[in-house]
Amino acid sequence: MLRIVVCVSGGGTNLQAILDAVDSGKITNTEVIAVISNNPGAKALTRAENHGIPAVCMSPKEYGDREAYNQALTDKMKELQPDLIVLAGFLVKIPEAMVAAFSGRIINIHPSLIPSFCGVGYYGLKVHEKALERGVKVTGATVHFVNEGMDEGPIIAQKAVEVLDDDTPEILQRRVMEQAEWILLPGAIDDIANGRLELVGGKVRKIQR
Ligand code: GAR
Repeated sequence: MLRIVVCVSGGGTNLQAILDAVDSGKITNTEVIAVISNNPGAKALTRAENHGIPAVCMSPKEYGDREAYNQALTDKMKELQPDLIVLAGFLVKIPEAMVAAFSGRIINIHPSLIPSFCGVGYYGLKVHEKALERGVKVTGATVHFVNEGMDEGPIIAQKAVEVLDDDTPEILQRRVMEQAEWILLPGAIDDIANGRLELVGGKVRKIQR
């Protein structure tokens, strides 16, 4: 059984997609052992509680400085000992010590086709605002392993989504979630849980279903 911790900051629709996929059997061999948020107001925390999953809020504001927060977050993860950490809309830079302690065992979903519209300052709705400003005709989502960089880790899977003429950032965000994110992220978890996907020597090794 793959024991996962899901990290969230906001609405938690990706968390919900994971919980629904576990319930429906689209994800097998997997248990969500905890949800961690940096934001006390995150709706994702309520989604976890409604599902009977321990929900922990660790806000940087509760700590003296970033170093103290990073240490506390890393310590919490070490205490929970997950097999996999899933960043599902977690808008906090993962501390280097945590990346080192969970090497090859952290994945992230990003709402664009990396390397477009990613890195510092590109998160949530901002990604879609920038894509529309640039006038791209195709965007999408990427699930990738997390390394010390920002959205720079090895890519696991990507899915393209069409941009339509009258799109607003909100409409585009929803389409990217529905057509890409809520499919890619549960799919990657199921692949890892069932031994079809792993990181070997910094490279993604994937066996087709
Ligand atoms: C999602 O679109 C996710 O891809 C994005 O934040 C949103 C969270 O939505 N993540 C990033 O931008 C990370 N750089 P959700 O809370 O409803 O899942």
